[in-house]
Amino acid sequence: MTQTFTITRLGHQGDGIAEGPVFAPRTLPGEAVSGTVVGQLLTEVRVETPSDQRVKAPCRHYKSCGGCQLQHASDAFVADWKVEIVRKALDAQGIEADMRPIHTSPERSRRRATVAVRRTKKGTLAGFHGRASDTISEIPDCHLLHPDLIAAIPVAEALALLGGSRKGVLAVTLTLSEGGLDVAVKGGKPLDGPLELALAQATEHHGLARLSWDDEVIATRQQPVQRLGTAEVVPPPGAFLQATKDGEQALLQAVLQVTEGAKRVVDLFAGSGTFSLPLAQTAEVHAVEGEADMTAALDQGWRKAKGLKRVTTEARDLFRRPLMPDELRHFDAIVLDPPRAGAEAQVSELAQAKRPVIAYVSCNPVTFARDAKTLVNAGYTLEWVQVVDQFRWSSHVELAARFTLNS
Ligand SMILES: C[S@@+](CC[C@H](N)C(=O)[O-])C[C@H]1O[C@@H](n2cnc3c(N)ncnc32)[C@H](O)[C@@H]1O
Repeated sequence: MTQTFTITRLGHQGDGIAEGPVFAPRTLPGEAVSGTVVGQLLTEVRVETPSDQRVKAPCRHYKSCGGCQLQHASDAFVADWKVEIVRKALDAQGIEADMRPIHTSPERSRRRATVAVRRTKKGTLAGFHGRASDTISEIPDCHLLHPDLIAAIPVAEALALLGGSRKGVLAVTLTLSEGGLDVAVKGGKPLDGPLELALAQATEHHGLARLSWDDEVIATRQQPVQRLGTAEVVPPPGAFLQATKDGEQALLQAVLQVTEGAKRVVDLFAGSGTFSLPLAQTAEVHAVEGEADMTAALDQGWRKAKGLKRVTTEARDLFRRPLMPDELRHFDAIVLDPPRAGAEAQVSELAQAKRPVIAYVSCNPVTFARDAKTLVNAGYTLEWVQVVDQFRWSSHVELAARFTLNS
């Protein structure tokens, strides 16, 4: 039975929500939509009265591809929606903050992406997971990926022909580096002698910088260097890297602004040194990160760089063993950039340590707001929040924020 609804808001996945709740994918607030309700989902959705924020999706793959959720909305709408998500999360914790204008990465700027590749009767199918979860959508004209990444998709297909099983889907992470393409494959056939040889030959044939297979490095032709400040770092295969260089720079500028003038900085959840190494141009830095191979990469990058102040590293699980107030008192600025779960345990210690300034970078407004509340209760002020959108047209929200200790 066809029913009509009015969309009142968007949910966290970017779906329109009508009273019920009924979820209507790819609709916008204020729109009258009709369709058939299955469970809580509106199917066969027809937009009866379009919003004035509705636009024609720029990408021709949008209909079938699951990579983007919000191409049917204007850039201004998406920008406001993302900033509002953060504002509301803070509001729910009773916190007000100055929201800076959002910084959005340009189209076709993603330098890293994981494509799904399946072997088929005819050969291979590679792209992003489709809107229907068991499909793969080809993306030759993707508006997110850097053109060099799109050009690399045939490499992912060739690797699937060599080592993809008939049933499984390979996850091929493609990263642009100064040495060329850095490729990390998961979900392939187990390595044996002939496969390893074939993969090593493929590394040569396709001119890859590095190829790894289920975390094992098969071959390195060129070091897959990432430039972090003036340092050159070779991150471990598949390790975290900010999704766009542009977004990385926006987050870094915010962090540098917060920590300006600091002489000793601690960088918590430091990864391979995205913030630590640029910070070391003016301050001594202690970088703490859970993954020992990332701290090793950071340390190597620092050792080879010239003119940086001292950087020390520590591999440490900050959920279980956060830095304690006694360890934090050495630092005049704190940087933290935790995963989506936030940094509850570490922030409790920061609350007690009462350091002058904190730069908090987050990819989850809800856990950020929870941790912000702990800091505000302990006597910090949240001065500003800078939303950074490196996942254009998706429902992801990232931010950098400045906390200062009240005098
Ligand atoms: C959002 S990334 C940020 C990395 C880095 N700041 C950057 O911008 O490239 C979060 C980092 O936290 C690390 N991490 C996750 N859980 C952790 C834990 N329990 N203790 C310490 N580090 C952790 C991850 O390995 C990852 O490098």
